[in-house]
Amino acid sequence: MKGIILAGGAGKRLSPLTRVTSKQLLPIYNRPMIYYPLNTLIKAGIKEILIIIAPEKAGEFLNLLGSGKDFGVKFTYEIQDKPRGLPEAFIIGENFLDNDDVVMILGDNIFEKDLSEDIRSFKSGGRVFAVEVEDPERSGVVEFDKNMKVLSIEEKPEHPKSNFIIPGLFIYDSRVIQFAKELEPSRRGELEITDIHKKYLELGELDVKKFSGEWIDAGTFDSLLRANQLAQEKLHKNLVI
Ligand code: TTP
Repeated sequence: MKGIILAGGAGKRLSPLTRVTSKQLLPIYNRPMIYYPLNTLIKAGIKEILIIIAPEKAGEFLNLLGSGKDFGVKFTYEIQDKPRGLPEAFIIGENFLDNDDVVMILGDNIFEKDLSEDIRSFKSGGRVFAVEVEDPERSGVVEFDKNMKVLSIEEKPEHPKSNFIIPGLFIYDSRVIQFAKELEPSRRGELEITDIHKKYLELGELDVKKFSGEWIDAGTFDSLLRANQLAQEKLHKNLVI
């Protein structure tokens, strides 16, 4: 299995911090943000990682991360010239993926607990995670039954069918490239990851795992602050996330 870290995007909600550098290079306590999703992949044994970045900040990522040798893995870099949506990563990464399965993580997502087992046990189809939140209407909502069978997936629904949302780590088999190519941009002009999930759901090949640790999308000032606190709390207990 190969890994993708999606670290492009505009980061408008964190301006003016993101006028200094890319969102995923901002400090989270003692390390740049991208180290956290990177560590999630490395802990799961992923050795080949594609980092997708915006053109303006590409040099900064290269300076910081280099070839991957220092991390015991191999990095490949690709540019996304405009943020056209998450599924574009699979089109940009087609050659890199070369028919392998893929785990994609968003460069601003922090998972407190280890996901290695759920990444390693993936066989085929699509796999997403579910995190319980108080305001599901702001995200992609997943509804499932007591046997963890996915019943529905909805993007920012007015009336959510569950309190579980899908965080930014997704696992797919190689068909995801073709599915991404078939997508049409949504009303907001982007390719939507929800449409990829729906495709696997229609085929009866989407599964979901509950994530019970703390999960942070560090894209706002408050969540960025919380991420700093969490990293500090963990480090003081000698735990690295
Ligand atoms: P978002 O937080 O949805 O978008 P953003 O980072 O551009 O921030 P803002 O809404 O404040 O402008 O993106 C989630 C993650 O995915 C983040 O790490 C950036 C990345 N991303 C890309 O790399 N390319 C894209 O086309 C999009 C939409 C996001």
